[in-house]
Amino acid sequence: MARILQVTDPHLGVNDQYRLAGVNTLHTFKMVLDAVAKEDYEIVLATGDIASEASTRAYANFFDMVSNMGAPVYWLPGNHDLLGSISKVPNATEFIRAIDIENWRILMLDSVIEHNPNGRLGSAELEILKQLLQENTQEHVLVCLHHQPVDVGSAWLDNQKIEDADEFLEIVENEPNVRGVLWGHVHQEFSTMRNGRLFFSTPSTCIQFKANSDDFALDDLFPGYRMIELKPDGRIESEVTRVPIEDYGVDVDCAGY
Ligand SMILES: [Fe+2]
Repeated sequence: MARILQVTDPHLGVNDQYRLAGVNTLHTFKMVLDAVAKEDYEIVLATGDIASEASTRAYANFFDMVSNMGAPVYWLPGNHDLLGSISKVPNATEFIRAIDIENWRILMLDSVIEHNPNGRLGSAELEILKQLLQENTQEHVLVCLHHQPVDVGSAWLDNQKIEDADEFLEIVENEPNVRGVLWGHVHQEFSTMRNGRLFFSTPSTCIQFKANSDDFALDDLFPGYRMIELKPDGRIESEVTRVPIEDYGVDVDCAGY
């Protein structure tokens, strides 16, 4: 069994005092990393929106903080990230597309349209996905991306779902080895089964979007992370843990971000 930790959407800022909707995102990310110290994991997946404004300060902080986690950390970009800014940071690790662990392969996709909140894989990325699936020799596959490929039940967020969701779903649902699809972006816990595969998302390490709200709205739920067990027989077991934050400070009346 492979034990995976997912952290997502830390939205680190241009300086250490940066706040998003009242929340000091550097502080809440630190608190989440402190909380996961008690967990047992072999790898970490960070599924995008590492920074709020793609600043080198944010990326330097992120890679510095995760370098002490005692496990390799793999990341993919979110709509607030810029690959060009990440690559300028001396301590940044590379964007790795495929991670093989035990009898599983984890794929990391780029669903970003730069400077646009909406998601799209695009023909080149869909080709990469097909190629990585084709050359795969592992028994089971987990596919990760930033944006959701299925509706989560909030109109404003579901407008940002990957534009080519139909093409993506056709590829993964015609590949018997794919057991699950995991994402960030929606800043909330979500899971559903589609044709025997688990589709799921995870709370951000900072602000939380209110579930089932058609317009932008924040929730006062605490930040969180997800522990995922990839079983040898292809099953995925997983659990979200919330991390209480003293002086959390979230402004639930905030009208946007
Ligand atoms: Fe985000």
